[in-house]
Amino acid sequence: MSLPVRIAITGAAGNIGYALAFRIAAGDMFGPDQPVILHLVEIPPALDALSGVTMELNDCAFPLLQEIVATADANEGFEGVDYALLVGAKPRGPGMERGDLIADNGKIFGPQGRAINDNASPGVRVLVVGNPANTNCLIAASSAPNLDRNQFTAMTRLDHNRAISWLAEKTQTHSTQIRRMSIWGNHSATQYPDLSNCTVNGTLATELVDETWCRESFIPKVQKRGAEVIRARGASSAASAASAAIDHVRTWLRGTTEGDWTSMAVASDGSYGVEEGIVYSYPVTCSNGSYSIVQDLEVSEFSRGCMNTTEDELREERAAVEDLLE
Ligand code: NAD
Ligand code: LMR
Repeated sequence: MSLPVRIAITGAAGNIGYALAFRIAAGDMFGPDQPVILHLVEIPPALDALSGVTMELNDCAFPLLQEIVATADANEGFEGVDYALLVGAKPRGPGMERGDLIADNGKIFGPQGRAINDNASPGVRVLVVGNPANTNCLIAASSAPNLDRNQFTAMTRLDHNRAISWLAEKTQTHSTQIRRMSIWGNHSATQYPDLSNCTVNGTLATELVDETWCRESFIPKVQKRGAEVIRARGASSAASAASAAIDHVRTWLRGTTEGDWTSMAVASDGSYGVEEGIVYSYPVTCSNGSYSIVQDLEVSEFSRGCMNTTEDELREERAAVEDLLE
């Protein structure tokens, strides 16, 4: 057995945290041979609830779970962690956009970025889930001067998985037959789920579905799926978000399969003309624990318009949190 890895989950007593902690402890993120130490980070009013989560984790007697650190102190919470899953933040309610959360949630991520900078393992990998995830990720990364921007990512894997699932249903195939799905931009209603390069059983998706379905059904469906779940459940997606977080980290670590890619929101390096620095979702390949933005994809006029719209929104979000950026 290898040495345990340390994983911090903020908001561990919340809905996503509750799903995430048990799946990580069961081995879903790092595999059946990798012991784990969970750092469960909360705010003081949630510590009672967190002690219940700890009790339940212990009651599972998970073979891979070596230790639990449960705390409301971010420095302790991020001490020596190899992975930091920043989930803790308010979810939106019906009728809200994720960007409406920026004033309340943005201020959480500067102090957490600093605490990660000061306490985590130097090679820590960070995934921001709390909304608005791209801009919160930008805030956290800007507060961590000793770490590389490439260590900070935000989650669009849920959108990626939703897009795959929706296309699989439309083409009467299985999600495993779909390759090269791309989510561009913000984890918001402006995101651009792009079928241009996508294949279904080796055939270009654009040969199987018509443009009207793509523009009038597929794209808006993926863009608004989070709101659809909120309307139905009365609460935002939790188990699917936890599952996507597990997929995100596992793919980052283990790599994408040959001929395929995934979607991750990462610090733009200017690829595809997107302004450098903003946290923008791109198609990426992963290998040896690193990601690379897929280069040289052809961009149609329609795609360019969609990519610009979501970039504009990210610039506006960045302007709204200028005072939180270091
Ligand atoms: P929740 O309200 O059930 O849980 C949030 C938890 O975070 C609470 O227990 C709260 O005490 C804790 N928290 C708040 N501030 C904290 C801080 N500073 N440090 C540590 N913990 C803190 O919410 P949820 O359903 O688990 O959702 C969490 C976030 O994830 C929301 O912002 C939601 O919108 C977002 N989300 C993102 C995606 C995505 O795809 N990126 C998907 C689903 C949900
Ligand atoms: C989602 O996509 O389900 C989450 O971001 C929650 C939300 O507010 O939509």
